[in-house]
Amino acid sequence: MSEPGGRAPGDLLRRAAATLDAAGVASPRADAETLLAHALRTDRGEVRRLAVLGRPVPDAAAEAFDDLVARRAARVPLQHLTGTAPFRHLELAVGPGVFVPRPETEQVAQVAIDAARAAVARSGAAVVVDLCTGSGAIALAVATEVPAATVHAVELDADAHAWAARNVAAVREATGAVVHLVRGDARRALAGPVDAGGLDAACDVVVSNPPYVPPDAVPRDPEVAEHDPAVALYGLGADGLEVPRGVTAAAARLLRPGGVYVMEHAEVQAAAARAAVEATGAFVGVRTAQDLTGRDRMVVAVRADATDGTGGAERSDGRGRLDP
Ligand SMILES: C[S@@+](CC[C@H](N)C(=O)[O-])C[C@H]1O[C@@H](n2cnc3c(N)ncnc32)[C@H](O)[C@@H]1O
Repeated sequence: MSEPGGRAPGDLLRRAAATLDAAGVASPRADAETLLAHALRTDRGEVRRLAVLGRPVPDAAAEAFDDLVARRAARVPLQHLTGTAPFRHLELAVGPGVFVPRPETEQVAQVAIDAARAAVARSGAAVVVDLCTGSGAIALAVATEVPAATVHAVELDADAHAWAARNVAAVREATGAVVHLVRGDARRALAGPVDAGGLDAACDVVVSNPPYVPPDAVPRDPEVAEHDPAVALYGLGADGLEVPRGVTAAAARLLRPGGVYVMEHAEVQAAAARAAVEATGAFVGVRTAQDLTGRDRMVVAVRADATDGTGGAERSDGRGRLDP
């Protein structure tokens, strides 16, 4: 029964957490707090404070919260319910039609940011391309964290492109950071020499979190299988690496010698991703890097110099740099 003028936050949270736990949600208490914060238009810290103080939740907010909990129990992604997803220091708008950015991709973005900063330190500028940008997460992280970089982003899908455009506009309004967003196939976009409007051999960093799930590896979590768009998940081909191979070929074309390529993949795809990069014959220093939990989640490589095959990178034989 509701108390006069509202319901006790502790009870609301306890019951919601039990409901979410029974529905198989991985972090029931945290999700309950986030949803109550959303219903109250506040943050989780304030929700915890209200729970400690026992200050009643107004009936309208409690009803909105019950509805949110029911939808979360039906495994609608938390980020679709709140309408936002955190990515590094950003809060991005997300919802149906766009891939929800993941914490592991923050480390992929970090490699791109470090490489962009190194290019800026060397030459005062950096050109960075995010292929398969989705919500714009990686591109916007680079643009806001490396202000001297010129950042381009490519997205194929119309719905995802619309979400990216919304985020690009919002971040530009809030911070002044600019991302040049184009709609197109990452395997062909931005092609051509610079004097014809392309970016061939003009980029310091190409970063991508492309679709890479094989057709027979349907994700278990309903939040992913039923709510992330298929075009964002499945990389095509028997091994899911058809699009990533095309993205890798595009990176070889776009990067200048010495430029850095970083691409996310599934943990089990580390050897196949390295092989795909090596098969282009365009890269040196091909290595696997880990996410923050130590799992093999990305391939990193340096564009070779067409003339000496080193990318101007230092090798063990003393002929140049190898690592980004
Ligand atoms: C795994 S999601 C990653 C989105 C974003 N980079 C992130 O990390 O949150 C892959 C994205 O690639 C897009 N995509 C799929 N095939 C593509 C292609 N051939 N060219 C460009 N984008 C593509 C999908 O629509 C989706 O937005």
